Amino acid sequence: MKVLVTGGTGFVGTHLVNALVRRGHSVAVLARDAGATRNRYNRPVETVAGNVLDPASLTAAMAGREAVIHLVGIIHEQGQQTFDRMHREAAGNVAAAMRAAGPRRLLHMSAMGAGEDAPSEYGRTKAAGERAVRESGLDATIFRPSIIFGPGDGFVSLLAPIVRWNPLFIPVIGKGQTRFMPVSVYDVARVFGDALEKPGTIGQVYEVGGPETFTLDEIYREIATAVGKRRKPLVHLPLWWGRFLAARFEGAARRGWIDAPPLTRDQLRSLTRDNAANRNRLPPDSQLSTLSSRLYLGSSFSFERRYPPLIASASLMY
Ligand SMILES: NC(=O)c1ccc[n+]([C@@H]2O[C@H](COP(=O)([O-])OP(=O)(O)OC[C@H]3O[C@@H](n4cnc5c(N)ncnc54)[C@H](OP(=O)(O)O)[C@@H]3O)[C@@H](O)[C@H]2O)c1
Repeated sequence: MKVLVTGGTGFVGTHLVNALVRRGHSVAVLARDAGATRNRYNRPVETVAGNVLDPASLTAAMAGREAVIHLVGIIHEQGQQTFDRMHREAAGNVAAAMRAAGPRRLLHMSAMGAGEDAPSEYGRTKAAGERAVRESGLDATIFRPSIIFGPGDGFVSLLAPIVRWNPLFIPVIGKGQTRFMPVSVYDVARVFGDALEKPGTIGQVYEVGGPETFTLDEIYREIATAVGKRRKPLVHLPLWWGRFLAARFEGAARRGWIDAPPLTRDQLRSLTRDNAANRNRLPPDSQLSTLSSRLYLGSSFSFERRYPPLIASASLMY
């Protein structure tokens, strides 16, 4: 199938594009910077210049495609790239461009916890993006993954150095009891590929979590074991301290002192609600890897340690 992928240069997008090419699809990647696709994938793919906030560029990019996979999303706001614009407006732009240019099949990336009543702006605007997709009348499938990990992620690779290098203890903001279903990026890529090839998935919403549920504390412990710091104790810091720290990080990012805040107040708000589904909903016959997430959590970090330059170039984590 001739597929256009938005967000194809990001963490999930890089793995997904590789998976789609391997499955025999003809893939084009919409990129703000054409150089960002160079040497990124296992095989060359077409690059189309465009920005999801620029409707004209989207319409041009859609010409001749049979399906669109819309992955673009952010976890912190930066300049024009606000949550509302990037999740609601961009989804509307993609849908409008599809209606204008022809392709009807849309795979839309949302997130577990998306909801009008979500505690975070991220979750509320993800819900607004889903609404834009549903109202478009296109042949859409929506995906809501829990936290995704794998080579190049921004999750294990953010937590692992904290676990490893923080002297004496591992700082955890809040009570550490929020539940997650970490899912491998390879599983996410497989589920998208399966849905693309099955018309029966049109109109469905899939909750994509890994095979096990972990509290935040348990995730820290798994990572601690993987990096050889099993005995380091977890110390819980109050939420107000987390908010104070996050506000400083956000200010530093606004002033251009750092590229991206490693923690935001919006992320802390999302920690007030579990990020786990009662039951995974996957496309028919789609299967998650049978290997335990524990092994993956460790292996994704050890891969990262062995190949840091490769991972750095493949990673543009939010
Ligand atoms: N990672 C997770 O744990 C997780 C969990 C649940 C859901 N999700 C969702 O999955 C999606 C992908 O996440 P990710 O972790 O792969 O994020 P990522 O690594 O930050 O990738 C974001 C992608 O969006 C692109 N992008 C940003 N602004 C754009 C714009 N204005 N126009 C066109 N492209 C733009 C980036 O391209 P540039 O190269 O130009 O920056 C990059 O390719 C997001 O929607 C996210 O909310 C992720």
